[in-house]
Amino acid sequence: MKIPFWEKAFKKDNTFLFGSEPNKTIVEFKNEFNKSGSVLDVGCGDGKNSIYLVKQGFNDIDAFDISETAIEKVKRLCKKHNIEINAGVQSLDEFEFKKQYDLVLSFGVFHFVEKEKWKDFIIKAKENTKPGGIHIIQLFNDNVEPSPDIAPFAVGMAKDGEIKELYQDWEVLQYLSYEFEEEHPGVPLHKHASNKLVVRKR
Ligand SMILES: C[S@@+](CC[C@H](N)C(=O)[O-])C[C@H]1O[C@@H](n2cnc3c(N)ncnc32)[C@H](O)[C@@H]1O
Repeated sequence: MKIPFWEKAFKKDNTFLFGSEPNKTIVEFKNEFNKSGSVLDVGCGDGKNSIYLVKQGFNDIDAFDISETAIEKVKRLCKKHNIEINAGVQSLDEFEFKKQYDLVLSFGVFHFVEKEKWKDFIIKAKENTKPGGIHIIQLFNDNVEPSPDIAPFAVGMAKDGEIKELYQDWEVLQYLSYEFEEEHPGVPLHKHASNKLVVRKR
């Protein structure tokens, strides 16, 4: 079985393959969030976004990832920074909502899950979001073929703009369709096509 390249970095506390800074959209929209609200970080990886939110004053964060290595790292980092995140190993298609969230985040995850499954997840996440709550989602679309590093795992690539169709009843705060290049250790420069959506429940 092929192991995704990010697993190696999750084993090391000082290596952040996707950066240690929060995603810039979280920083851009931080004043729109309810700090006393509940957050769900879907496919949190090594937790950079959740860790940033805790440091901003959020104290009710659930984060999950299918990777045990990722969650072990999140737990180690929480200990190191003396902060609390409720982090667990879970696949998004098996996630059961037990409460209503104010903020749901997912960066770079959905395209690794079959399309019907991530769409079902979004429907459930919408139902389990409080009025005024926000979702921020970034996923890859098939305007660019999956690069060799992710091709074996990219089973649920979106069509460009498809994510927006699922949120027609919510207020769109930001919608982006863009391409970018990146390079990881051991993975040559490659391109991705991406959609990013920031939406608020009416
Ligand atoms: C590119 S990384 C992004 C991590 C993090 N969101 C970030 O922005 O740094 C993709 C993450 O999706 C996770 N993932 C893949 N399939 C998943 C699934 N079915 N359920 C939950 N997480 C999943 C991977 O383990 C990995 O941590």
